[in-house]
Amino acid sequence: MITVVGSLNMDLVTTTTRDPEMGETIMGVAFDTVPGGKGANQAVAAHRLGGDVQFIGRLGDDVFGREYREILKREGISLQNVKPVTHQKTGIATITVADSNNKIIVVSGANNSLTTSEVNKHRDVIATSDWLVLQLEVPLEANEAALKIAKENGVRVILNPAPFQAFPKEWFDMMTWCTPNETEMVAMQEAYSDPATRKLMQKKCIVTRGAEGVSFLSGGGEDLVAAPAVKVVDTTGAGDTFTGALAVALDEGMTIREACSFAVKAASLSVTKFGAQGGMPTRCEVEGM
Ligand code: RIB
Repeated sequence: MITVVGSLNMDLVTTTTRDPEMGETIMGVAFDTVPGGKGANQAVAAHRLGGDVQFIGRLGDDVFGREYREILKREGISLQNVKPVTHQKTGIATITVADSNNKIIVVSGANNSLTTSEVNKHRDVIATSDWLVLQLEVPLEANEAALKIAKENGVRVILNPAPFQAFPKEWFDMMTWCTPNETEMVAMQEAYSDPATRKLMQKKCIVTRGAEGVSFLSGGGEDLVAAPAVKVVDTTGAGDTFTGALAVALDEGMTIREACSFAVKAASLSVTKFGAQGGMPTRCEVEGM
């Protein structure tokens, strides 16, 4: 079983032909409201690919929160560990998509109510998992609590360090794999400069490199798993698809190279459609690629 602890955001997406300059007004092309949040995206990606997934997160008791609950129900993801909170609004992300690339601002809202004590309410779910998947859109204390439960119970962990903020270096000991993109990898290299942490970090990082694919360190040096060429519509959620798919593949016992190859295909398919979750593929679609 794969347990994802993380964020849910309603994505408010404006499609434009270019980014406005500071102080400039331009006309947009389209506006859409679609489900997102790195945590929920990774859970949906893993579930569509056949993973046995549990998701732990928090929504507001508001219009977006109620809409998101219906979306998760339709996806077949249990709501048992997704509690509505009354004191904060559902998290949102304002996203601008221009020329297939995105810029994102997240307002965490109810995601911030996932505290240590709230995570501990789901101790049994985490403790009985095979894999725990984390990102950095919920408070660091939530991730730390989940990591401790995982460590105590021998649960393997994938941390997607996005959006990057410095976390305690001791976390590297508690994770199995870390999936930064190139920007996050640079930030991590600046944040963790002592040689021992650097070494551990490099050993555990699988760096997502967009259209190029992903790279990781193997016995013979850096190994690159190339991405298949696809027609890109929207890159939002590609990294989340990779992380969710990686969890499924590793849970099934694939080697790290096989798992990366599977996950790169899933991420490549995800960018061919609009929205973070809109293009996340099914198992058949990945296997048919
Ligand atoms: O990784 C993409 C996601 O980042 C979006 O769905 C948005 O909600 C932000 O969390």
